[in-house]
Amino acid sequence: MDIGAHAPVGDSSGAFDQVQRLARELLVYKFAIDELMTKLRILSEEFDFVHQHDPIEHITNRVKRPEAILEKLRRKGLPTDVDLVAEHLDDVAGVRVICPFVSDVYRVEAMLRRQNDVQIVRTKDYIAEPKANGYRSLHLIVRIPVFLSDRVEHVKVEVQVRTIAMDFWATLEHKLFYKYDDQVPEGFADELSSTAAMAAQLDQRMESLHQRVHGGS
Ligand code: GTP
Ligand code: MG
Repeated sequence: MDIGAHAPVGDSSGAFDQVQRLARELLVYKFAIDELMTKLRILSEEFDFVHQHDPIEHITNRVKRPEAILEKLRRKGLPTDVDLVAEHLDDVAGVRVICPFVSDVYRVEAMLRRQNDVQIVRTKDYIAEPKANGYRSLHLIVRIPVFLSDRVEHVKVEVQVRTIAMDFWATLEHKLFYKYDDQVPEGFADELSSTAAMAAQLDQRMESLHQRVHGGS
């Protein structure tokens, strides 16, 4: 089914109708998010109980809107076929895990890796290697099984794990520069990466305080 095709006016299988059909397809991504949210909440609560430290501050999630999926497929020059969305896009389902400290970011990753039903498809560690603009976060593409009434689907979810300081920076950077489409104006880039370095330094200092208070846990 081509979700990007422009159907003749009055045709009931027109573009609007096709977006509606895509919305229904997207339900499975919501279920994958639900599964992952439950896993993360369990890890958060249980770790807190055992170690008196909760490695997760808060979690947000979203399913990409049909219009945004179409726009991204077009931007990447990919076919706008609903059957190919899962193949071409890794971020239809997105979960963002905000942690207090940098060590918590890797702790959450390790706990997810230990779960047999969570397949880690790809990892991008922008903390070890920040992007040129200073962006830091740990990105995981995971695949988790969703049990439907008549089948099991293995659904990809993009998980971004970051500290409060990383999230603060990324949120404000996005607000400031989203309209420039990655081309930040002259002179802004240095200022921007210097604010990212400040956020990274804040994380380091908070981490060392955390280690002094909590030791290894
Ligand atoms: P996309 O095609 O944008 O999905 O990029 P990608 O597939 O190469 O993935 P990447 O891991 O680089 O980025 C995925 C997501 O991370 C983005 O959609 C953003 O949510 C976030 N992200 C990546 N880089 C930046 C950045 O420089 N600033 C902010 N604020 N967010 C970023
Ligand atoms: Mg992406």
